Amino acid sequence: MELPGIITDFLQLSKENILLLWLAVLVAVHLMTSLVRHWSARTLPGPFPWPIVGNAAQIGSYPHIYFTRMARHYGDVFQIRLGNRPVVVLNGDAIRQALVHKGVDFAGRPDFASFRFVSGGRSMAFGNYSEWWKVHRRVAQATVRKFTTSNPDTKNAIESHVVSEVKELISLFMRETRTHGYFQPHHYLVVSTANIISALCFGKRYSHDDAEFQQVVGRNDKFTKTVGAGSIVDVMPWLQLFPNPIKTLFDQFKELNTEFYEFILAKVVEHRKTMEPSIVRDMTDALIMTLDRGMTGAPGVLLDEKYVPPTIGDIFGASQDTTSTALQWILLLLVRYPDIQNRLQEEVDKVVGRNRLPSLQDQPHLPYVMAFIYEMMRFSSFIPVTIPHSTTTDTSINGYPIPKGTVVFINQWSLNHDPQKWDHPEIFNPLRFLDEDGELNKDVTGNVLIFSMGKRRCIGEELSKMQLFLFTTLLTHQCHFEVEKQPTFDCIYGLTLKPNPFHVAVTLRD
Ligand code: HEM
Repeated sequence: MELPGIITDFLQLSKENILLLWLAVLVAVHLMTSLVRHWSARTLPGPFPWPIVGNAAQIGSYPHIYFTRMARHYGDVFQIRLGNRPVVVLNGDAIRQALVHKGVDFAGRPDFASFRFVSGGRSMAFGNYSEWWKVHRRVAQATVRKFTTSNPDTKNAIESHVVSEVKELISLFMRETRTHGYFQPHHYLVVSTANIISALCFGKRYSHDDAEFQQVVGRNDKFTKTVGAGSIVDVMPWLQLFPNPIKTLFDQFKELNTEFYEFILAKVVEHRKTMEPSIVRDMTDALIMTLDRGMTGAPGVLLDEKYVPPTIGDIFGASQDTTSTALQWILLLLVRYPDIQNRLQEEVDKVVGRNRLPSLQDQPHLPYVMAFIYEMMRFSSFIPVTIPHSTTTDTSINGYPIPKGTVVFINQWSLNHDPQKWDHPEIFNPLRFLDEDGELNKDVTGNVLIFSMGKRRCIGEELSKMQLFLFTTLLTHQCHFEVEKQPTFDCIYGLTLKPNPFHVAVTLRD
């Protein structure tokens, strides 16, 4: 019997050609299954994913903008693939549906490689949702609260920390202006905000020239780039297996986390040596007292003294980069919009006068300042996408099934720039937050999404708002800011969105 021609031809192919043929068949099968999965009914819509990289190459330098564009095309809920991981991206109103109405279902964190290196692997902020996590969050939240509202003494302490940091900041601004004319304020803002949280966490502030402190706070940029939604190493963990630029970055990330955690561990050891049983000097003392006794949750769950360093690490780490980024945006907007800077100065002068400094008590009488801060948060959306979430169970959103363990990105930027909610969202306009009587309109401020919502909502919201209010009023009351060359709104994406470096000159007001 004679074999068909195609088979005899095949048998004559060399080994290399057979290998190539197999490879081609594999790629074709992968593409076909991807296409079938992509177009099959009730699977999530989304852009077509390429083999190996998925949509990683498409998301570009500004993932939040790409996600918002995709949402316009596919709807508020869509799916991309990063590497071989499916990622569901939530935009607009779907965010509240998921994080509030199905809070527990969407409260997880993915098992990303980078998350395991934060706070010695015991981070609450980067840890998955569990009975342990619930107790951990309760302890962290109660500690932060002790130093904000519940206690009038600590509220005053925050105010005095901010006032002394701003005084120091202004004298450094003046020195830099005298020496260089225009200078980059970024580094000074980072150290100032780190000093405030350091005073609250450790009862200690540092000089702007302190080398150890500079190293600790200087880790921010690399840290937020690695843990931001869309970070390459987390979705293609095999990149750690051989030498390449991403592996080098990831090795640096591990190193800076180790250094940061050692700094925190040393602080806790020092506190244990010097603390007295009845005096709570700072958040570290408060945590030691709570966790040495142990904090219980569901049966079998007991958080003990091992959790002091990761909790204080989470609070210290989460505070500094966020608040200093907010301040960079505030300065940038003051110099970009001199009329708005003048109006802020006028309002603060009218309410506070020139014979004393602004204080937290002035807040209800300064609606334009508050409107400016809300508009800064909306316009910049400086945490454009939250820390990545994951689903804790099989669930669904807008009728689309989502399996347990799916990575979920929450695109806060999409809500803050939704033209259905905001008139000309691309324009910076604090007046959108004031009502006809010139008062702050709480219905509108409630639509800004920057601290996330639901089970993972930021625990530092109140503390941050107090600081942003004090920095804005003190700086505009005391100084005038100007630029030689208009800075752009171009920024660098990570967990926080930072404006590109810009230069300012500062003069003291009379
Ligand atoms: C303007 C400043 C701040 C902004 C905009 C901000 C925003 C956020 C966002 C978006 C998240 C992620 C929520 C999510 O994954 O859904 C978060 C988490 C967190 N923030 Fe903040 N934050 C700020 C300041 C602070 C401060 C000052 C503290 C500490 C006192 C803090 C402590 C935390 C902690 C511990 C988490 C993790 C919560 C969890 O996973 O359950 N943040 N923050």
